Amino acid sequence: MKEHLEKLDHLLKLITNKIEEAISKKQLIEIRNAYLSKKAEINTMLSILKSLTPEERSVFGQKINSVREHLFQLYEQKSNLIDRADLTDKLNKEQIDLSLPSVNYTSGGVNPVFLVRDEILNIFIEMGYEVKEGRDVESDYYNFELMNIPKNHPSRDMQDSFYFSESLLLRTHTSPAQARVMEEKKGELIKVVCPGKCYRRDNDDMTHSHQFMQIEGLLVGQNINLGHLKATLDLFIKKMFGPKREIRLVSSYFPFTEPSVEVEVSCAECDGQGCPTCKHTGYIEILGAGMVHPDVLKMSGYDPEIYSGFAFGIGVERVAMLRYQIDDIRRIYQNDVRFLKQFK
Ligand code: DAH
Repeated sequence: MKEHLEKLDHLLKLITNKIEEAISKKQLIEIRNAYLSKKAEINTMLSILKSLTPEERSVFGQKINSVREHLFQLYEQKSNLIDRADLTDKLNKEQIDLSLPSVNYTSGGVNPVFLVRDEILNIFIEMGYEVKEGRDVESDYYNFELMNIPKNHPSRDMQDSFYFSESLLLRTHTSPAQARVMEEKKGELIKVVCPGKCYRRDNDDMTHSHQFMQIEGLLVGQNINLGHLKATLDLFIKKMFGPKREIRLVSSYFPFTEPSVEVEVSCAECDGQGCPTCKHTGYIEILGAGMVHPDVLKMSGYDPEIYSGFAFGIGVERVAMLRYQIDDIRRIYQNDVRFLKQFK
């Protein structure tokens, strides 16, 4: 019995020393395998219990259990200590040197036509309008017929386009979105803006491009009149160009509206006094609008005896050019970084 207890004391000292001296995870695992595994002496010594008297068994049993418990605890503590030290070491090694020069990333800008499109849309969204998109590839029926522009109508001449077949083309304006929205809403009240690209067979010059962007607006309800249209556009212009701008409606013609108007805004350059920018008229034409033609309402399923509405078509490049004093529409599409990087 005595020698068993001495043996235990000896093991306790030996293993405690080993654990205390260990400085790496690897050493610690070696110690575990050699001294704390199932086959290690500290565990195999349990079999001695069988050969002891009951009193001895109680003394030795308590002793061996407390020794084992102590050693496992010691092992656990050391293991945690080494883990923490390893982590600190790793973090120290991976420290970032903030004084190093950074990598130069060049970030792109947003094309002014998209900046202005979003700005216009946001103004109308604030007024409670919903955004709906039409289709770039449109049928003759929607692009022309439903917009009250039948075959051989003279206004088709100004809107030649790129045709896929006799009846399928790249839309020449966003107005066909009006018909698509009316068909979808089937008699409900409508308040939408429809942005998108349009295409025409045009000779490109400072103010014309074969591809351009429009935002169509459509409001259909009951007892809607020209006053509502004027108030809406006046608010839009003031939000877009500032509270000092005034609009005026000039009589015009579009097949899909009656009456039709051109909307002009007082020139910001000369405050309406007349200058080269406004060709000495004091005003700049910026969009077409009007009261939705009864036939257009009827063709898309709205009874013109009950419903009335207004529509407008905004040329986004036009607004962008005024907004940013861009002298030539082609700059918007030429992808010249010297131009584009001004819009970050
Ligand atoms: N669709 C016309 C164009 O492209 C613009 C336009 C004028 C749209 C009057 C409208 C409108 O909705 O009422 O020239």
